[in-house]
Amino acid sequence: MSPTPCPAPAFLPSVPRMTEIALTVQQTARPTGFPTADHFRFAESPVPEPAPGTALVENLYWSVDPYHREMMDGDFALHAPLEGRTLGRVLASRTPDLPEGEVVFHRQGWRTHSVVRPEEVRRLPHHPGVPLSAYLSVLGGTGLTAYVALTRVARLREGEDVFVSGAAGGVGTAAGRFARLLGAGRVIGSAGSPAKVAYLTEQAGYDSAFDYRTAPVADLLAEAAPTGIDVFVDNVGGDQLGAAIGALRERGRVVRVGTISQYNTPDAPPVVFDHAAVVEKSLRIEGFLVSGHRDAQDELYDFAVPHLRSGALTADETVVDGFERIVEAFLLMLRGGNTGKILVRAA
Ligand SMILES: NC(=O)c1ccc[n+]([C@@H]2O[C@H](COP(=O)([O-])OP(=O)(O)OC[C@H]3O[C@@H](n4cnc5c(N)ncnc54)[C@H](OP(=O)(O)O)[C@@H]3O)[C@@H](O)[C@H]2O)c1
Repeated sequence: MSPTPCPAPAFLPSVPRMTEIALTVQQTARPTGFPTADHFRFAESPVPEPAPGTALVENLYWSVDPYHREMMDGDFALHAPLEGRTLGRVLASRTPDLPEGEVVFHRQGWRTHSVVRPEEVRRLPHHPGVPLSAYLSVLGGTGLTAYVALTRVARLREGEDVFVSGAAGGVGTAAGRFARLLGAGRVIGSAGSPAKVAYLTEQAGYDSAFDYRTAPVADLLAEAAPTGIDVFVDNVGGDQLGAAIGALRERGRVVRVGTISQYNTPDAPPVVFDHAAVVEKSLRIEGFLVSGHRDAQDELYDFAVPHLRSGALTADETVVDGFERIVEAFLLMLRGGNTGKILVRAA
């Protein structure tokens, strides 16, 4: 997708980015409910010098993620650099393991420059024809989450019908496209706007989609999948989970990926679902963290890269240009402003 055209935000740092100045985003306060730009600040410092055994990386792409919202409640230290998945190029190196010019993946995001040790980075494979951003989207943790959800947790079989909540986001678009490539039957998605519903069916390969905001989800799902579903990939939780349990066929599987419906509403009531249906239909409900499945990374490359090269697979992305807009991009994603994986690209 093309970069999201948004006006420059009020919290831009006053000094334009210069190569001798490094910018780091810090969290300044704990939010209640939705965070705002006031919960962050941009700190300026000289570009750091790499110590022996380390390298200086100039970051090129940043991922902002729903889990960062969870970390804002306590795991992110205040007034300190934040963690995040990032791609950058080695600018200066004092270790033979990180040659200058090499493009690496690391987790010291939310800053323009990072000093890293070799064991903290992953050198990217060279897949000609694959855009760099894909290593943070459909080939990165986002794609890996979708791939593991379908193959290892749901153990999707050919012809099975799949419902994905949060279908127009990063994990959701990858899950829909992977389900199709893995031979799923009908692929159904939910998303939060008519434009996203149209994107799902017209561009992202979904057979059917609905806007979960327009009516009770159980009714919308019954209309979209009148004969039921076999697998539910749940990025959202809440009433979508309850509805899917009602729609699942015998021996159906719920893959609990995330609970974004609750990240900004900590007082949300517990999910109501038919517990007896889980027994009577022999359902399986299983969650997972992608961090426990890093060993599937090469398998994902083997599966997805040929499809990316042939054009059978597309990396759905919303790209926001300029590190100075990273907070804006994060807040945009929490409000549903992205389609596909949201990324920030160095200007
Ligand atoms: N288990 C793991 O290891 C793992 C790894 C990665 C991600 N995740 C989880 O997977 C989910 C998707 O992550 P992602 O990175 O792909 O983000 P994403 O879906 O690209 O972006 C978040 C989306 O959530 C939707 N959303 C926001 N508030 C919502 C609400 N109250 N109800 C329903 N939808 C809402 C918005 O879309 P709409 O406009 O459609 O509302 C928004 O675009 C998240 O829950 C995340 O925590 C888990």
